[in-house]
Amino acid sequence: MREVKEGKVRILSYTKEVPSKDMPVFYNPKKELDRTLCVLFLKSLNGHEKFVVCDLLAASGVRGIRIKKEVGVKKVVLNDLNPNAVKLMERNAKLNGVEVEIRNEEGNKFLYNYEGRFDYIDIDPFGSPVPFLEAAIRKLRNKGFLGLTATDTAPLSGTYPNTCLRRYGSMCFRTDFKHEIGLRILMKKVIKKGAEQDVALVPLFAYYSGDYYRAYFQKVSGARRADELLEKVRSLFYDGKTLERGFWEGKGRILGPLWCGNLTSEVVRKMYERSKMGLLRTLLEEDEVGVPWHYDLHATCKLLKRSVPKLGKVLKKLREKGFKASRTHFNPMGIKTDANIEEVKKVISP
Ligand SMILES: C[S@@+](CC[C@H](N)C(=O)[O-])C[C@H]1O[C@@H](n2cnc3c(N)ncnc32)[C@H](O)[C@@H]1O
Repeated sequence: MREVKEGKVRILSYTKEVPSKDMPVFYNPKKELDRTLCVLFLKSLNGHEKFVVCDLLAASGVRGIRIKKEVGVKKVVLNDLNPNAVKLMERNAKLNGVEVEIRNEEGNKFLYNYEGRFDYIDIDPFGSPVPFLEAAIRKLRNKGFLGLTATDTAPLSGTYPNTCLRRYGSMCFRTDFKHEIGLRILMKKVIKKGAEQDVALVPLFAYYSGDYYRAYFQKVSGARRADELLEKVRSLFYDGKTLERGFWEGKGRILGPLWCGNLTSEVVRKMYERSKMGLLRTLLEEDEVGVPWHYDLHATCKLLKRSVPKLGKVLKKLREKGFKASRTHFNPMGIKTDANIEEVKKVISP
């Protein structure tokens, strides 16, 4: 056990070179960015001072304790099934001088039995958040917020198509923009789960970060709002031989259904104004392009048997031709553009 500093808190945590489920209590220092963005997201919401927050799968309590201390919400409830986690959360809350409510229950049982409703629920599981979605959506107040992580990136991004179909209800296979597909399939699942309860879960902020996908939504009750969101759930096609991709209109191999709307909102703009973080700027820029896919410069050059030009030059040429073009946070060699593959090929190999 050691003490680590994260944001404005100090946390006692177990350590392991590669953090895993079999630690006495899970803690992954590499997810500090994820928790920092969570704090920034909540701080950027109007009225956060009055929020009642639930850190459903809290482990060491680091996220909830940071939210209490750094965001300054009204109340935080930390829950975890693991009794060792509960003992550690108690110590960590004391260490940071914060008052939090601590519970030791199975996540769904806790949500169904909890007497009040929450303004923000965070689901940060080992693997998929799907088992907790239904109860979490019910326990959010109208206009409340949901933040969740998925670490099962392999099924979501095409390595295990059957698992993806079973768990998320979407078709997926290997492509050169796999993590954009994975994140958008996850978002579709959350939106559909909300729609089952006549609730719109409006995406506000979503991103991919190496080992996981993370997405934030606002709950807006009403079947009409849920239907409006579902209009942006569509399927794509992808041809691995030509690298062509686009909206599925009856031809080609199907990817999806998946969320085809924005990954950002005004909240992300506020987060960027406060922090000037590069990830947020890239997300805002790529969202402006307005297509739910991107191209991979390496894969396209390999197909064309050409050496790889500078990404900046390719983007500039696309813009000169009148297309929208941006880098993407999904892939350092990614091209986000509304140009089709033939136009991209022409720019690389005139
Ligand atoms: C990935 S860790 C959470 C990490 C933590 N949010 C953080 O930022 O460090 C997942 C936690 O969920 C807990 N857990 C797993 N299944 C659960 C369940 N069904 N109900 C409640 N807690 C559960 C585990 O004990 C573990 O502490």
